[in-house]
Amino acid sequence: MKKNKLAIFRGEPIRKEPFVWKSSIGEEEKKAVIEVLESGRLSVFRGGNKVRKFERKFSDYCNSNYGIATTSGTTALHTAVSSLGIGPEDEVIVPSLTFVSTASIILQQGARPVFADIDKESYCMSAEDLESKITKKTKAIIPVHIFGHPAEMNKILSIARKHSLYIIEDAAQAHGAEYKGKKVGSFGDCGCFSFFQTKNMTCGEGGMVLSNDLGLYQELRLRREHGSPENQKTWYVYDILGFNYNMTELQAAIGIVQLEKLDYFNKRRRENAKFYFKKLKKTSLVLPQIKKDIYHVFHNFPVLLPKEISEVRDNFILAVKAEGVPIDVCYPSPLYKSKIFNELNGGVFCPNTEDISSRIITLFTDPCLTKKDLKDISDAVMKVSEYYIR
Ligand SMILES: Cc1ncc(COP(=O)(O)O)c(C=O)c1O
Repeated sequence: MKKNKLAIFRGEPIRKEPFVWKSSIGEEEKKAVIEVLESGRLSVFRGGNKVRKFERKFSDYCNSNYGIATTSGTTALHTAVSSLGIGPEDEVIVPSLTFVSTASIILQQGARPVFADIDKESYCMSAEDLESKITKKTKAIIPVHIFGHPAEMNKILSIARKHSLYIIEDAAQAHGAEYKGKKVGSFGDCGCFSFFQTKNMTCGEGGMVLSNDLGLYQELRLRREHGSPENQKTWYVYDILGFNYNMTELQAAIGIVQLEKLDYFNKRRRENAKFYFKKLKKTSLVLPQIKKDIYHVFHNFPVLLPKEISEVRDNFILAVKAEGVPIDVCYPSPLYKSKIFNELNGGVFCPNTEDISSRIITLFTDPCLTKKDLKDISDAVMKVSEYYIR
């Protein structure tokens, strides 16, 4: 293909990207927020009831007994690890292709994240590598249902049982995803979700921890709210060291409405993924693989460049953006290479993560994308591929 067919080589200014991260918010969310504002009850403390309603509805949706709403996915994970008593000297195994919070919350507890490699097809934690990383210090495993694809929960659960380890699922990208007919977030001791703006459903910011265990639920609630037990004669009683990770009533009101739309949002994301599969199948790009017996909710659509052009990924991304469409890279390098983990994990090398993170590119699947947006994105990716892949 001739060089000047690509906008980037014509020296044209990069056109403004369409705003793909615009959350799908309708009149229902606006009405719910106004109702809370008018009630004057903005916090769950002293009278609010939206947070409790959201916790009940979200845990019911996931078939889990209890839910604890928090300020973010990060604080949901932090509440979970601290409630399970993870602290100094402990090790927690995490996948090496994930968002920083999966592992940073382990550092927050003074414990050590240990990075396992990922499976070549699902990009989730490899159960085989996970088992090889277990030591006497291992206390928990955090599988991540990455990009909306559920991790191999049967294998991970049996390893956890064999070695008496806790499981905290990081389901921040997988609301509504299923593994063998069961919703993710309901398998482990805790299941954590994020309601950040880009997620499959949103509250702006927000998070949730699910658990089936009453004792653990009580501990989660205590930690979320200053370690202060419910139903005391006075509010100023502190039984354990806790946080203030309370979700607001405003966030919960949005969450309740968004939850009603979640199945529709996921349907849209799956349709958008289907569009990309159809359009890109004839290229030499490696498209996502879907394991048997799962319901994938395509938080996004990860694609691998052929190995021979992995070195020009940055240019590839710039060239696609110059065509006027959005594209991203999740995640550009193994998490253990970040400065904050490097000191503890200097010698780690996970070959699948090294390879996949070096050539992954991420296409958006957000429900707000129109057929034209999807066509523009795939046309741009194909055009740029034609130039780079010879
Ligand atoms: C896999 C994963 N874990 C945890 C988080 C943290 O969630 P939040 O941004 O709500 O703190 C995210 C959010 O990007 C995520 O993608």
